[in-house]
Amino acid sequence: MEALLAGRILQRCRTSFLAETFGRQRALILGEGPGRFLIELLRYTPGIEVTIVEKSPMMIRQAISRIRKEGLDLSRVDFREMDALTWKPTDRVFDLIVTHFFLDCFCPEELADLVGRVGGSATEDARWLLGDFCIPHRGWRRFRAQVIHGAMYACFRAATGLSAKRLTPPDNCLRSKGFKLVNRRFFNLGLIHSDLWVKCVK
Ligand SMILES: C[S@@+](CC[C@H](N)C(=O)[O-])C[C@H]1O[C@@H](n2cnc3c(N)ncnc32)[C@H](O)[C@@H]1O
Repeated sequence: MEALLAGRILQRCRTSFLAETFGRQRALILGEGPGRFLIELLRYTPGIEVTIVEKSPMMIRQAISRIRKEGLDLSRVDFREMDALTWKPTDRVFDLIVTHFFLDCFCPEELADLVGRVGGSATEDARWLLGDFCIPHRGWRRFRAQVIHGAMYACFRAATGLSAKRLTPPDNCLRSKGFKLVNRRFFNLGLIHSDLWVKCVK
């Protein structure tokens, strides 16, 4: 997808709300992959400590080598090689949660469980950044997105045993955990979006 979407667009989407990470102290990133967002976060937000939950050892190796290559401090990152679906956060400690191109891997039941558990580990002023695919409401852009999504899910299901058959927007799950959508930016004719969600204390 990185190559198909000209890479830069995905990276613009990932880093669209990077400014919102400034001053944050403890970040949780789920399914970070090879570390494209991680290195920007380490550069931009001094002092932040990051926990990564990523099930692929290959992706973790790539992220570590990226951090070293960029001369960044590896000791600020705690890599947990495990399945996010079974990971149990122990405390409400994360003031930043990041899920870029990750929540779309899950079926509705998994998504509700995951967002519920992870949302429970967020501090009262936490921010949740997410980049994901989406389907525009109408017109030829909607048709285009449906074709791309159909092909994408068919390929990923065959190649990786992905459980999701289609995209499930995480919005309702996030709202039910007390997060409010503060800003959403669209890229590539509405095919992807970048969100800033903020936890609201009632
Ligand atoms: C589509 S990639 C996105 C990678 C990266 N966040 C990005 O922006 O390009 C999904 C990532 O989530 C990881 N992943 C998928 N399912 C997972 C799970 N259940 N637990 C932890 N990591 C998972 C994959 O290994 C992969 O690195």
